Amino acid sequence: MSLIQPHGGKLVNRQLTGDAREAAIKQAATLPRLTLNARAEADLELLANGAFSPLEGFLNEADYQRVRDERRLANGLVWSIPVTLSVTADERKSLTAGKDVALYARDNRLLALLHLEEIYGYDKQVEAEQVYKTTEDKHPGVAALYAQGEFLLGGKISLVNEVSTAFAQYRFSPAQTRELFEKNGWSRIVAFQTRNPVHRAHEYIQKCALETVDALLLHPIVGETKGDDIPADVRIKAYEAILSNYYPANRTQLAALPAAMRYAGPREAVFHALIRKNYGCSHFIVGRDHAGVGNYYGTYDAQNALRDFTAEELGITPLFFDNTFYCKRCDGMASLKTCPHDAAEHVSLSGTRVREMLVAGEIPPIEFTRPEVAQVLIDAYRVQAKAAAAH
Ligand code: ADX
Repeated sequence: MSLIQPHGGKLVNRQLTGDAREAAIKQAATLPRLTLNARAEADLELLANGAFSPLEGFLNEADYQRVRDERRLANGLVWSIPVTLSVTADERKSLTAGKDVALYARDNRLLALLHLEEIYGYDKQVEAEQVYKTTEDKHPGVAALYAQGEFLLGGKISLVNEVSTAFAQYRFSPAQTRELFEKNGWSRIVAFQTRNPVHRAHEYIQKCALETVDALLLHPIVGETKGDDIPADVRIKAYEAILSNYYPANRTQLAALPAAMRYAGPREAVFHALIRKNYGCSHFIVGRDHAGVGNYYGTYDAQNALRDFTAEELGITPLFFDNTFYCKRCDGMASLKTCPHDAAEHVSLSGTRVREMLVAGEIPPIEFTRPEVAQVLIDAYRVQAKAAAAH
């Protein structure tokens, strides 16, 4: 059995090497320059390594509008999140459509050339309403959108230097995960998106899925997340702790996804699934309130968004899970689908309560989290408290 095809049929590679790279570096010195923010850096890496296949660059206007309004590229292919590059009116002054732009990282390293095709205006309110289903700036994705420049740049990119080497041990490109899956003889791989440590509910749905496929790709986001999410370096330690204690090493792979979180709920669930298809995964887990924030989306809106498309259009198979919890009467993890007992039998803890316990150095109940994971988080909160006290 061979691996799933990338979205659009071909894995994009926009990374220059050898003479072409040398020439691009020379050319960059003569071009107008633009410094990217964290999200644009992350998008650039994912465009270059094919995680966003079939995209080869930041969206042009026709693609942008159709993605925004219909969750499709201009050619009809499913795509749910506008991958755009914004500039302010001031930055725009030095740019001309048809002329390349040198893209720099926040730390001033040259990263890529943008082969600028279009500069266009856009309506942030319309994008907020369509993509995030709200125009409130309390929503972190909408706040990021409102903070953007007034114009968007469309065009293919050519990467000349690596965007980041953080989490190098786990920073696989789609070509690398595909190679690894083939080497291991896996063709049915389920991907798990997360921006949190793996708790018992996550573990349960991952293992339910793993019962029916070859392997699990634990694929946490390590790009920009909102301030109160647990930082990626702490989470990576927590993933290592749970994997080494509770998961079969020969059927589980940890990989870091450099993408930034958008918190776009249903739209982002579709986007997350297509990205994992590019990484070679055949299945994708969508539980409750996937990529949600606050009360902006219904519990199962993300699952319904994936149901809007045919199996052929998506390619990757979504696996839907109900809200899961530990049930004392079942004496195990369960969901409303499998558990007949009263809610009073279910162990449920709010995120706020869990955080309070961890900050106080207390291990939350084993029904909620593995103690090894809790210990990593307690240690991190201690370090954070010490650093804050020192200031
Ligand atoms: S997300 O923003 O990355 O979606 P999170 O890390 O909390 O947030 O969730 C990762 C995945 O696990 C998502 O598919 C989410 O729907 C699912 N999930 C999280 N908690 C539960 C739960 N208690 N029951 C069912 N699914 C869950």
